[in-house]
Amino acid sequence: MAIKLDLDDIQGLIARGYRGLPYARFTIVSAQDPAAAHALLSWLLPRVTPAGRFDGDSALHVAYTPAGLRRLGLPDSALDGFSPQFRSGMTGPNRSRFLGDAGESDPSCWAWGGPQEPPVDGLILLYARSPEVLASRQAELARQIDAAGIAQVTVLDTRELGNNEPFGFHDGISQPVIQGLPKTRGAAPAGTPGGRVVPAGEFVLGYPNVYGQLTDRPLLPAADDPRSLLPRDPAGSGAADLGRNGCYLVMRQLEQDVEGFWRYAGEATRRPDGSEDPGARTALAAKMVGRWPSGAPLVETPDRDNPRLGDDNDFGYYRTDPLGLACPLGAHIRRMNPRDSLDPQPGTGASLAVNDGHRLLRRGRSYGAGPGAPAATGPAEAGNNDHAERLARADVAPESGGGREARGREEQSGGTGLHFICLVASLIRQFEFVQHTWLNNPTFHGLYDDSDPLIGSRHPRGATFTVPGHPVRRRYRDLPQFVRTRGGAYFFLPGIAALRYLDQLPADARSAPFSSSATR
Ligand code: HEM
Repeated sequence: MAIKLDLDDIQGLIARGYRGLPYARFTIVSAQDPAAAHALLSWLLPRVTPAGRFDGDSALHVAYTPAGLRRLGLPDSALDGFSPQFRSGMTGPNRSRFLGDAGESDPSCWAWGGPQEPPVDGLILLYARSPEVLASRQAELARQIDAAGIAQVTVLDTRELGNNEPFGFHDGISQPVIQGLPKTRGAAPAGTPGGRVVPAGEFVLGYPNVYGQLTDRPLLPAADDPRSLLPRDPAGSGAADLGRNGCYLVMRQLEQDVEGFWRYAGEATRRPDGSEDPGARTALAAKMVGRWPSGAPLVETPDRDNPRLGDDNDFGYYRTDPLGLACPLGAHIRRMNPRDSLDPQPGTGASLAVNDGHRLLRRGRSYGAGPGAPAATGPAEAGNNDHAERLARADVAPESGGGREARGREEQSGGTGLHFICLVASLIRQFEFVQHTWLNNPTFHGLYDDSDPLIGSRHPRGATFTVPGHPVRRRYRDLPQFVRTRGGAYFFLPGIAALRYLDQLPADARSAPFSSSATR
């Protein structure tokens, strides 16, 4: 069925990751005063970038937590229409255990979004073509925030590392192809495991999802929208559709121990005489990711990197590598998108269809200098394919001292890592399922005590990395934790009509003309 997306109402972040706008900053705000929250939204509204047409030198997006929506005057009856996970928040009861945010990743240790930190109301994402444009847009925003008397909980800087994430691997290759949107970069041909077109309703509320249904979202009695600012429920109920053209936005600050990662890979692959084996070190790191540093998939080139395959996304697992001899069953990308490996009929379209219900639209950005990537290094230099090797040399060779110095720089700037962002229509079926049932699951794909080797949380069951092989498999035990959560929150990224509706709500919900409960 052909789907026409309302691109003038959808925020542009759903349609594009802004590769052409490599400089970004994310501002997290808390507004004590409803009038202040309204003043800021009124200023932001005309500046929000729609998905329709984009050719500017900057883009701006805004998303809210339940507290932020409440502050704008949305009553609890309307908030009840949002998903329970959004309402309870990332640190709500049982969520931390479910998401693996324990030990060093416990929300009590977070820099923002944790129980001891100021409440989070909203997130403003700014993207720009140059550092100068970013600085000027950010200064404008900061003035507005100040004038409105709003607190900036934190301003999260990002750092463009070319195509690479801080461990030195090519990132952002594999994304779902969304029905109704132009094909994204890196998409494989339609019909292949990497080129599946996923129904728009998996990422944009108010459109059919993989089940041909409209995912639950807040619907208001039409009387609560007397000026008809909101689109009407496409299912024909007559309700005002507050959710349509919006989606949930998951934000997690994930700190990466780059030095520890490469040190571990180096130690674990030393030759019997104790000397280092740089080739084996890179190969082990690649086994953890499922791709070589250039991005080339292990299932296509198991023995050596091949940068010509760096953007390749046209592969499955079941037919070519059912036992994980090329790409280990527990490798990061094999867990995050098992493609055609899922029951009940692996290797068939039925398997791919099950997988379609658990896709994530990733929009993260790296932050921090990172060892081996000095502050003066520009995106082009930092993004080359030797990055992993340079990182490894800087970190492992004690005589270079590069690792220690870099670590010092990192600590001053709040570490190195990924501001992980993903967009989904269902928090529970997409992000939370992937995080819990695939990423941190020690028994994923018949394994026994393995969590995601690259980013998983470690616990007694979940600290092993199994690499299948002939004649015997290799098990790396007591894997250190290379990534820890430093902050996070669930947001709602509304459609632009929904932002207009929120903007005109009376600041005090008690005086609002709400007729009755939200319906679903
Ligand atoms: C610091 C944390 C992380 C790092 C360093 C990292 C790194 C990578 C790399 C290098 C790739 C391969 C490039 C690509 O296919 O685009 C990848 C793919 C992917 N990652 Fe992560 N990642 C991180 C966190 C996460 C988290 C938290 C999730 C989800 C909960 C996630 C989900 C995915 C998905 C869905 C893919 C694409 C897999 C595919 O379609 O084949 N990642 N990641």
